[in-house]
Amino acid sequence: MEDAYIGLDVGTQGMKGVVVDTRGLVMRSAFSAYPTQSPAPGWQEQHPQDWLKAYDEVLQQLVEGHLPVRFAGIGFTGQMHTTVVSDGQGHPLRPAILWSDTRAASYGAALEHRFGLEALLRMTGNKPLANFSLLRLLWLQDHEPALFAQIQQVAVAKDWVRNQVTGTFVSEVTDASGTYLFDVEHRQWATSWMKDLAILPGWWADAVESATVVGSLTRGPEQLLGLPVAAGAGDQEASAVGTGLASERELGISLGTSGVVFWPRGRFSVPPHPSVHAFCHVVPQMWHWMAVTQSAALSLRWYRDALAPSLSYKDLDQLALTSPAGSQGLLFFPYLQGERAPLMNAAAQGTFMGLRPVHTSGDLVRAVMEGVVFSLYHAWMVMQPAQQAPLDRMVATGGGALSGLWMQILADVFRSQVTVVGDPGAAVGAAWLAYWALRGQSAVLPLDVRVTRDPSPDQTLYHTRFQEYRMMAEKLNAIWV
Ligand code: XUL
Repeated sequence: MEDAYIGLDVGTQGMKGVVVDTRGLVMRSAFSAYPTQSPAPGWQEQHPQDWLKAYDEVLQQLVEGHLPVRFAGIGFTGQMHTTVVSDGQGHPLRPAILWSDTRAASYGAALEHRFGLEALLRMTGNKPLANFSLLRLLWLQDHEPALFAQIQQVAVAKDWVRNQVTGTFVSEVTDASGTYLFDVEHRQWATSWMKDLAILPGWWADAVESATVVGSLTRGPEQLLGLPVAAGAGDQEASAVGTGLASERELGISLGTSGVVFWPRGRFSVPPHPSVHAFCHVVPQMWHWMAVTQSAALSLRWYRDALAPSLSYKDLDQLALTSPAGSQGLLFFPYLQGERAPLMNAAAQGTFMGLRPVHTSGDLVRAVMEGVVFSLYHAWMVMQPAQQAPLDRMVATGGGALSGLWMQILADVFRSQVTVVGDPGAAVGAAWLAYWALRGQSAVLPLDVRVTRDPSPDQTLYHTRFQEYRMMAEKLNAIWV
């Protein structure tokens, strides 16, 4: 019987599970949703016990019926930064605070004021953002002091679930990078930094590399008990396993709800701009830089829902094709949910600029697509000063990558060939990390290449449009406070 590996993703909407064979093909998948609570504006919480319920359901679905395989291992991934505080047995003291929760945003500025951004960048490689675990801990210290005094363990989502179902206490370098308590360069906890903040180093388990066997399953369907378990990785890094991004000459672009520019780095260095995250990569001795634009495909979804509810995304593509490149002078700034990179402004707003009677609905849709690509390029511009060699390839994934026109705009604005691949997802990456961990080899997953797009010969138009976009984005940013 052939070996197969399970990948589990503790996602934001629910738990996703896959069974992957030794060629990297998905044989079966399952999903179980769980709710998010928002007890106050900007707050987002989930009950870790709901994750465990979903874990039980998903594993049951994966093993049901006959699958002619021998399960050889399981790997974990999940929403990054989402933080669980527990007692000494790992029992949560309160609901988990999600990566998207903004209650602790002001603590970033307070840290910068107290320690200075330079010193913070030296310690953690990153600027303190609202979504990092440390900021939530500082919020709890001030707002829930009695509970804070009881904390004995802290873990991010996928590590907490994995610890519960293995009886071990382990954390992992990619997710540790997003806590703001990790020395990303040396791939270890920044213990003296924790002491400065009255955070006990013992709250965090030792951080291992992603493709490491950390124990065996003690919870789940009977046939899976004893299955070797790999540490896994944060969802962004696990997704990069699925798209094969492991060289400085490759750039990943994900056009999901949000947009991500993912750049593997062969050695650690602090990015030239504080909006860009520097985190550990799943490959030991590699790091990556990551820039997040908050509303990518979400911008097009907003347009469809608000202005063209009867149209499909295919129809929107056709409509945008009726507009010439540059959308007849119309610019769109996709800041519907504020912006992370490069503006770092939660108050930024979605904006159309330059509307005239001549503009058609085709121009509006095309402007939305162009604006999202400009925002990704704007984020790439602040990383690019560190580029030493030309890119070999750009890999695009996510729902937006299904649009031929959007991908052409991407190739034209970045002036680079774009390879569009089917998105294998973070769960597949997690299964593959289990394969690496158990087989001791970093075999590359087969890429589902859908299409490649070359830049158009005339590149002057988008070059000029982007300069206009950047100038206006910077001016607008100054008024959004
Ligand atoms: C990464 C990030 C999100 C979460 C949720 O920095 O905030 O991608 O991992 O998926």
